[in-house]
Amino acid sequence: MERIRTLRGFRDIFGEEIKKFNLIEDVSRKYFDIFGFREIEIPVLEKTELFVRSIGDTTDIVEKEMFTFIDTGGDSISLRPEATAGMVRAYLQEGMYAKERVSKIFTIGSMFRHERPQKGRYREFHQVDVEAFGTDDPLMDAELLWMTSLILKGLNVIDYKIEVNSVGCKDCRESFRDILVSYFETKRDRLCEDCLRRLERNPLRIFDCKHSECIDITQHSPFLYDSLCDGCRTHFESLLVYLNRFGIAVEINKRLVRGLDYYSKTVFEVTSDSLGAQKAFIAGGRYNTLVEEMGGPSTPAIGFAIGVERLAMIASLEVKVKKPSFFFAYIGEDAKRYIVPFLKEFVGGDLSLSYLYESKSLKSQMRYADSLDSDYVLILGDDEIAKGIVIMRDMHSKMQYELPLDPEEMMREVMKIAFR
Ligand code: HAM
Repeated sequence: MERIRTLRGFRDIFGEEIKKFNLIEDVSRKYFDIFGFREIEIPVLEKTELFVRSIGDTTDIVEKEMFTFIDTGGDSISLRPEATAGMVRAYLQEGMYAKERVSKIFTIGSMFRHERPQKGRYREFHQVDVEAFGTDDPLMDAELLWMTSLILKGLNVIDYKIEVNSVGCKDCRESFRDILVSYFETKRDRLCEDCLRRLERNPLRIFDCKHSECIDITQHSPFLYDSLCDGCRTHFESLLVYLNRFGIAVEINKRLVRGLDYYSKTVFEVTSDSLGAQKAFIAGGRYNTLVEEMGGPSTPAIGFAIGVERLAMIASLEVKVKKPSFFFAYIGEDAKRYIVPFLKEFVGGDLSLSYLYESKSLKSQMRYADSLDSDYVLILGDDEIAKGIVIMRDMHSKMQYELPLDPEEMMREVMKIAFR
């Protein structure tokens, strides 16, 4: 019988890759805690209108890439293509704005976009998403970029570039629109059909076009960056000063516009050339008017999302943020009796100790310990019991230690060796 496979662009994540996902999550969580971000889980499915109103009805995401369904009640619902829209909804629905001056929240989970799958681009992908509501201060923008660089350092990622730009405020964009429209009008005959429509409705979206001819035209277009109003220019310059104080190197990329309509002022992408065509693995920016546009009080905000699949491609598994893991290999019934007292010591010390329930040969237990990626194996047989010792083998260095068999004393030695 023919086997059923996953949908195109959907994948099972396991083995080395899921270890990297967990590592990315652990390192991110560590810094979210330090920087005061609280976790929130938001639904995967929301009303389609939420995404249309926030991301923008002329964006590629909303026009072409959403998984949208009509439910049995006749309502249009969509799988979330990103998290910011839902985070803003939650910020308002849960009344966070009324309780705190600045709300810092993060969420981790799957996003869905009906894009053409390729390396680093899937229809279901994962984001670690961070949002900070309540301040327009460029210190917050710089702080987020600093936190990003600390997370990357924690993951041993060094080959990357932070690109920043300002897409200004509504005023800057209004005056720039005319400049842009008159430029594109002169190239009308070369623009694709989609871009001719964008020219009428939202000319900035022409920068999203993937047609080579349109890309070529945008290469020579004027930049919004050069038409920023005084307020936006000052904001961007202060951001650069703060980044300098934090010691964060960035590249100004005047071409950087984002594929979502809600941005204002700061936008950024973290890119790595080793990723190929889909080289942005973290992206975000400010969205100072979105909360109000979604029916809330005027609230500036900024955030970013880590593309977990892409970061996993360049992150190293060498980083150890986890506690070491232990395996107990026992030979014989007398040795098996030590499982309970050993387990009590390990669990009491917040450490994990794995073992096999059915007794097996030492060789197969060692093989099993290897498959679990155990850092240390405790080995106990009749000989060791007679000598009053238990052997601890470091699975990385292959060094062996003789520890006292008494569970409490054994544990003290384990701690010394594993945490030195
Ligand atoms: P985005 O640029 O659309 O921004 O996505 C952020 C990151 O998600 C991208 O840089 C990329 O690494 C990853 N990503 C996007 N699409 C795919 C895909 N099809 N397959 C694999 N990875 C993908 C946002 O989503 C904004 N909500 C970010 C943000 C948060 N802005 C403010 N707050």
